[in-house]
Amino acid sequence: MSQTTVLFTAEQISQRIDELAQEIRRDYGETEELLLVGVLKGSIHFLSDLTRRLGDNVRVDFLQTSSYGKGTKSSGIVQIRKDLDESIEGKHVLLVEDIVDTGTTLKYLLELLQTRLPKSLKIASLLSKPEAHLVKIPVAYLGFSIPKHFVVGYGLDHGERYRNLPYIATLQED
Ligand code: PRP
Repeated sequence: MSQTTVLFTAEQISQRIDELAQEIRRDYGETEELLLVGVLKGSIHFLSDLTRRLGDNVRVDFLQTSSYGKGTKSSGIVQIRKDLDESIEGKHVLLVEDIVDTGTTLKYLLELLQTRLPKSLKIASLLSKPEAHLVKIPVAYLGFSIPKHFVVGYGLDHGERYRNLPYIATLQED
């Protein structure tokens, strides 16, 4: 059996995304088109809530990587399972993630996407776990820093479970 303990309620998450969306709108302005790239699957709810708070000059695309499989530890090897549909050359790109854990996934994606010559490339992540970072990742828009616990909910899974929780919780495995 696994037990969950709420870390951030749906209301706390929503308020924080309001603030992040304001910052993003302020930074990019209304005239610059912004391409939000959601990293599947964990970013689904964050991307959805974020895009609906931004203006209409926004496009959406998806990438899928995987490094965790069914366990709670990163394998350290990032695989691209689904690449972008459109070219990012000359575009303002905002990579949208649910969590920076070791930082391995985003390090790989930043290096990959930079080779495709975007006009700008920044990261928005709902969560970051500083004690777990193995590489330094510049997160322009961060929701919350959290301690080194395994968290689930609001997109984050354990063996594909819990993604649909409307809140974020820590998971204690027995
Ligand atoms: C999770 C999460 C991030 C990554 C973070 O994805 O969504 O993409 O791990 O870990 P890292 O900083 O140690 O690289 P996962 O590969 O589990 O796929 P998922 O989003 O489909 O759950």
